[in-house]
Amino acid sequence: MRIRKFLEIDSTNTYLKNSSDIMDYDLVIAERQNAGRGRRGNEWKSLEGAGLFSFVLEEEKNLELEEFVKLPLVMGLAVVKAVKNIPEIIYEKNLDFKFKWTNDIYLNGKKLSGILLEKKDNFMIIGIGININNEDFGTLGEKATSLKKESCKNFQIEDIIFQVVVQLKTEYKRFLKGEWNEILKEINNMNYLYGKEVTVEGMNRILTGTAGEILSSGMLRFTDSEGREMDLSVGEVHLKNIR
Ligand code: BTN
Repeated sequence: MRIRKFLEIDSTNTYLKNSSDIMDYDLVIAERQNAGRGRRGNEWKSLEGAGLFSFVLEEEKNLELEEFVKLPLVMGLAVVKAVKNIPEIIYEKNLDFKFKWTNDIYLNGKKLSGILLEKKDNFMIIGIGININNEDFGTLGEKATSLKKESCKNFQIEDIIFQVVVQLKTEYKRFLKGEWNEILKEINNMNYLYGKEVTVEGMNRILTGTAGEILSSGMLRFTDSEGREMDLSVGEVHLKNIR
């Protein structure tokens, strides 16, 4: 595994995307990013104290699109499992970690971590931001939280990054071995959106309804206010106003 560390960089994902020398298991860590990127072109405020890194996984086989769309969920599960198992966290009773479709991690109802998955040739660049020791969350404000804020403890950021990386490899291997159904069960056991009222924006319309379970296709079951069931696909919809 090759590790590159920066005190400051534009974005660890951008660095790998622009690199002509990229390999399986490359890891890029930054203390700060001045042009951190989130999904849908959003800015990701990257303040000191957060875990900011990108990890490379090579596609071992050419995945069909139907398989590829499940990967953000697999990576999300890996992050939740790794963070839940941090020694300082594991016996804390008041920490409720959840997976929010498609690949955010929530802690006690607030955003703890986000993942930006990008593709370059036959590599996946998995960019992860975890609020660890930071207590300022930029524009997310009260909608976000950190490990420190919820547990009143300080953490070794790199230790957490390495634990996440190990778990990313583990879950990806399980996925390639055909364990998607087991992985999906674990994901549904911590489905943040289940039963919540959400507003769905996309496909030229806005709908309000209730989120349900995550399906084998990676889609999210949704029932609109008139009782019509539909399945939402990764990337096509944007969830707003989660209550
Ligand atoms: C999101 O929630 O929208 C995804 C946020 C992903 C942020 C991480 S921080 C490390 C890596 N580098 C980036 O520019 N983005 C990802």
